[in-house]
Amino acid sequence: MSLPTPAARLKSLPPYPFALLTQRVRELNQQGYDVIGLDIGSPDMPPPEGVIDELYRSARQPDHHGYAGYKGTPEFRVSVAQYYERRFGVKLDPEKQVLPLLGSKEGIVNLSLAYLDRGDVALVPDIGYPAYSMGALLANGEVEWLPIREENAYLPDMSTLPVDVLKRAKLVWVNYPNNPTGATAERDFYQHMVDYCRAHNILLASDNPYCEVTFDGYTAGSALEADGALDCTIEFVSFSKSHNMAGWRLGAAVGNPDAIKTLLTVKSNVDSGHFQAIYDAGIMAFDEVPQAWINERNLVYQRRRDLILDALPHIGLTAHKPKGSLYVWGRVAEGDGASYAEQALMKAHVSIAPGAIYGPGGTNYVRFSVGVADDRLEEALARLKKWYTSR
Ligand SMILES: Cc1ncc(COP(=O)(O)O)c(C=O)c1O
Repeated sequence: MSLPTPAARLKSLPPYPFALLTQRVRELNQQGYDVIGLDIGSPDMPPPEGVIDELYRSARQPDHHGYAGYKGTPEFRVSVAQYYERRFGVKLDPEKQVLPLLGSKEGIVNLSLAYLDRGDVALVPDIGYPAYSMGALLANGEVEWLPIREENAYLPDMSTLPVDVLKRAKLVWVNYPNNPTGATAERDFYQHMVDYCRAHNILLASDNPYCEVTFDGYTAGSALEADGALDCTIEFVSFSKSHNMAGWRLGAAVGNPDAIKTLLTVKSNVDSGHFQAIYDAGIMAFDEVPQAWINERNLVYQRRRDLILDALPHIGLTAHKPKGSLYVWGRVAEGDGASYAEQALMKAHVSIAPGAIYGPGGTNYVRFSVGVADDRLEEALARLKKWYTSR
């Protein structure tokens, strides 16, 4: 027999870029090469010990293994709401304005399924995290790239959007501290976006997983701090980077209650949430982990960021100094990011992400992640220098 053909919508979907890169690295490793991965933004350090202890304690309870509810536990929702009030001065109703997620990527893709029909437009930053465009394509929606460029501090310029596209736009994605550029945004930017979205009946989707990963004393904000934000905004937070819990798949969507309800309509038909121990561990992370733990962890990333920045002039790249996120976004002096990354992989056995993965505007860039142990990072930079000077 032959299997039926996959759904046509999958044809519009390029393979997930990181899956391809991971496959190549695996093949090189199998051939005996020691490839150092500076590509994927997965924290290398463990979560706080108390969070792991809480997972264990809660998992030992015999009645904590059933379905914990489509909306997670009430205690977890309260903890997220309290975090928003403490951290951003934003008051949220834990019943109507907080929805736990199986990692924020899940919520990002499901938001597109919840809002986009054929012909609807998602405004997606070019350069940006691939799940915004992939989610829109999975939902049969259209992607309109919103250029974000170095000369405009990697912020979008909404004034250039064609009127016919604007009329069909339902969602606009923003992400600061930004993956991959490390750019940050201030309150006046969020206020501008909120005003714009309210004027044009667009849902502002603020993806904020790096708000606790910042350097040099910088503190990141939330789109929900802007006046009127709750009329038009949904924000995504994640424990993946804030507390080094990427594999735990815990995040939350917060904000406009209708958007939260609409997202829940999709989610309640797709997943049934986590088991209680994950939510209890999340509560421990938000309620009990001291700021000092986050600061210390960020200092480690900051030191690695600086090591990379110091090396860039010796390996044909330039970059601005990011105040947040896990990344250094390097501009390639000669050629493009894809050929640079290819040579780095084949000649230095260092895997860095080619910028085009993040959209057409990333063609001349490569992305380094700081989520790699110090000794491996130092070795990777030494290899890159050796390769680059001997070309
Ligand atoms: C900008 C951005 N958003 C969302 C995610 C997804 O995070 P998670 O699904 O682990 O919460 C990532 C992961 O790297 C990211 O960089």
